[in-house]
Amino acid sequence: MDMYLTTEDFREMMRVMYTDQQPYTLGEYEGIPLASEVCEIMDELRSFEVRADDCWIVTYPKAGTTWVQEIMSAVMHDGNLEEVNKSHSMLRVPYFEQTFPEEVRRLKNLPTTHRIADEMPSPRVIKSHLPGQLLPPQIWTKKAKIVYVIRNPKDLMVSFFHFEQMLNLKGAGLSFEEYLGYRNSKKASYGSWWDHYLYFWKRRHQPNVLVLRFEDLKRDLRGNVEIISQFLGKALSAKTLDDITEHCSFINMKNNPMTNPDSLLAADEIPGRSFMRKGKSGNWKTHFTVAQNESMDALIKEKLHGTGLTFDH
Ligand code: A3P
Repeated sequence: MDMYLTTEDFREMMRVMYTDQQPYTLGEYEGIPLASEVCEIMDELRSFEVRADDCWIVTYPKAGTTWVQEIMSAVMHDGNLEEVNKSHSMLRVPYFEQTFPEEVRRLKNLPTTHRIADEMPSPRVIKSHLPGQLLPPQIWTKKAKIVYVIRNPKDLMVSFFHFEQMLNLKGAGLSFEEYLGYRNSKKASYGSWWDHYLYFWKRRHQPNVLVLRFEDLKRDLRGNVEIISQFLGKALSAKTLDDITEHCSFINMKNNPMTNPDSLLAADEIPGRSFMRKGKSGNWKTHFTVAQNESMDALIKEKLHGTGLTFDH
C-alpha cells in the first residue's frame, strides 16, 4: 500500500511541531478539551464516512494504544510480518483526529489525517483517542469493530507525565504533583480518564466492542493476541499467533524502527527519552508518594464506585 507520507517527511513535521516549540494550545469541543487545531476539524470528523469493516483502536492516551494497534495491524495482515515491517505502524494506522497546524501541513501538502484514511483500502485499522461520544456516529450505526484498552490510571499518569515532558505538550514543566492535579481534572486534554473509560466499559458487552486491559496483555500477551484475532474475525494458526506475539513484545517493538514511535516523533533526538519507556504494570510505585497514592485511590473509588471497574495493583 502506498503511504501518504514517508517516515522522513513525518519526522520532519514532528521536529517542526515539537523541537521548534510550536505553541500547544487547548480548545474545547462539546465540553472536552482538545488541541485547538483538532477542535477546528471536529465537525468534519463527526461526519467521517465509516466502513462496516473498519477496525478502530480507541484509547485514552497512554493506555497501550501503540501496542494494541500493532497487534491489530499484524492480525489484519494475516500475520505477514514482512509486509507489516515495510512501513511504520503510525503510517499504517492513521491517527484519526491528528492534524498539524496549517503552516506545518503546508510544508508537505498534507490534508488532515481523516482525509488520508478516506484513501486507504479496506479493511482499515484506525486509531483514535476521542471519547466515545465524539467518535463519528456512523461507527455505531455501521457497527465497525472497536478495541478499547483500559490501563490502571496510576500507571497512565506516570506514562502520560513522561510523554508530555518529552514532547513539550500542555503538561510539560509541571511537577508530578501538579501534573496529577491537571490530568485528574476535566481540564485535561481528552477530558477525564474516568468518563473516557466508563463510556466503553458500559458498552463492553456489545458485539462490536472489545475492552482489553493493559495489565492482562502484560500477564498473557499470547492469549490476548488470540482474543484480538478472533474478535477481528481472523482464524490464524498457532504459529502465526506466536509470531505476532513475539513481534509485539516490548523489547522487539522498542528495537524495531517500524514499531517504535521514536523514529517518527524524532524522539530519539532527545537524550535519555523514549516513547517505549518502561512498558510495565505497577511502575507508578516508584513515582507516587503515600499521600498521592491515597488521594488517587479516593478518586478512583469516587469515580468508579458501583461500575464494576476496579484495578488490582
Ligand atoms: P510506559 O510509559 O509506562 O512505558 P500509548 O501507546 O497508549 O501512548 O501507551 C504508551 C505506553 O505503552 C508506554 O508505557 C509504552 O512503553 C507502553 N508500550 C508500548 N508498547 C508496548 C509493548 N509492546 N509492551 C509493553 N508496553 C508497551
